[in-house]
Amino acid sequence: MTEINRRRTFAIISHPDAGKTTLTEKLLLFGGAIHVAGAVKSNKIKKTATSDWMEIEKQRGISVATSVMGFNYGDYKINILDTPGHQDFAEDTYRTLTAVDSVIIVVDVAKGVEQQTRKLMEVCRMRNTPVIIFVNKLDREGKDPFDILDELEAELKISVRPLSWPINMGARFKGVYNIYEQGLDLFTPDKQKVTERVEIKDINDPAVDAAVGKADADKLREDLDLINGVYPDFNVLDYLDGQVAPVFFGSALNTFGVKELLDCFVRIAPSPRATQAEERVVEPGEEAFSGFVFKIHANMDPNHRSCIAFVKVCSGVFHRNANYKHIRLDKMMKFSSPTAFMAQRKDVVDEAYPGDIIGLPDNGTFKIGDTLTEGENLHFKGLPSFSPEMFKYIENTDPMKTKQLNKGIEQLMDEGVAQLFINQFNGRKIIGTVGQLQFEVIQYRLLHEYGAQCRWEPIHMYKACWIESDDDEALEAFKKRKHQFMAVDRDGRDVFLADSGYVLQMAQTDFPKIRFHFTSEF
Ligand code: G4P
Repeated sequence: MTEINRRRTFAIISHPDAGKTTLTEKLLLFGGAIHVAGAVKSNKIKKTATSDWMEIEKQRGISVATSVMGFNYGDYKINILDTPGHQDFAEDTYRTLTAVDSVIIVVDVAKGVEQQTRKLMEVCRMRNTPVIIFVNKLDREGKDPFDILDELEAELKISVRPLSWPINMGARFKGVYNIYEQGLDLFTPDKQKVTERVEIKDINDPAVDAAVGKADADKLREDLDLINGVYPDFNVLDYLDGQVAPVFFGSALNTFGVKELLDCFVRIAPSPRATQAEERVVEPGEEAFSGFVFKIHANMDPNHRSCIAFVKVCSGVFHRNANYKHIRLDKMMKFSSPTAFMAQRKDVVDEAYPGDIIGLPDNGTFKIGDTLTEGENLHFKGLPSFSPEMFKYIENTDPMKTKQLNKGIEQLMDEGVAQLFINQFNGRKIIGTVGQLQFEVIQYRLLHEYGAQCRWEPIHMYKACWIESDDDEALEAFKKRKHQFMAVDRDGRDVFLADSGYVLQMAQTDFPKIRFHFTSEF
């Protein structure tokens, strides 16, 4: 239990460029996991119009190393799960969110809530994941902090509670008042150092005036009065419940407000929580080991097509070389070289606790969502695939390499790169993704890792959704009427391919006995 209670497993999410990489790096700096700023390479594909292949390859290499960053901070063991910066890989991020116990959202003070943040927050809300918000880049001019709070509430649909408060911003930025600990931190722009703290009794202490000047001190007192009037006192249970998001202000680049965030985070953020399996709820403190695969990462080296399966430990202790059951394959397996991720190194480990992530070398035995246990038949839930938004027919251009192409497609789908549907009308393979870039990645990887060549053919489609009904006759009638638009997914489930929003809406009205699902889990 001591090991479980000291663990904090979380992800930092943001719209690209809000400062996720910078904040991650500063947290590692505080944890002593790295010693100089600039050591964490930004895990993002360049946002140029034409994608640069080397860049994608580099990013894949870097993101193995930085997929999970574990470090000790005081008595706490912290695991940060990295998420891809590029929005075309949003699906990867959704899946990573199933493996974390809480989330820190970074928002740019000038840009406010952006599209990607909104989408990611929806996933957090679905899972009641506790959220802390860090408003970044206070060293630049941005929106009024009160406006930002309103925007966060309205756009992210969550109540907020500021736990720190900025004194001006941009060139006039003087620091933040730490509401949570009642302290004043003064700002000096510096990328490497932590700023001085002014000891004060309370907000009325003349030391506040001495530190920031009377005008700003008065303004601060006014703001705090307003905050206390408008926002209820912070209740940690509401945060843990996913109802209230504490908000911090600072500048990641200047290492300002980051320590306050981290110190509060380790105190209030949840230790590993119970995990819902189809059969029952699994508590982290249970003796028997269980875990699930939430991410599969192909290796960089094209000559050894091995992958790493990332397993989140849900309960018990994972031991190297112990026998565990791979539930989907109904097979006992041993793992002789599981790796843990400390700082930016990968080391073989002998054991791992709930909340930890281990990497298991894999050549095709794992799929996303696979469960490992000591023998009990458990299936962990909550790894939905979202209905894709972009579709193309995939065509083989080298008939000699059909086998390679099929194997490649199969494995890339296992990795969760995209989704495959077979059109029941013409038997053609359709690949569905959440972003344009994935088509390019698939084509590139099929060629470089499997020696197979493919070409894309456009297909006019709006959405693919899973359908089901309690009424077999109604289901058959629907499939017959829409036979040109029916497909099956890899598990053989019925999928309706709607070619426009209108058609989908009509289908929903005309066939009331059919249920339409927009995530694969229902
Ligand atoms: P991301 O991972 O969320 O995409 O963002 P990242 O940390 O890469 O930050 C995006 C840009 O914002 C970077 O500038 C970074 O230096 C800058 N930034 C991060 N935090 C702050 C801050 O507190 N204040 C200011 N003023 N800027 C900040 P860049 O020019 O894109 O990259 P670089 O060349 O500086 O690395």
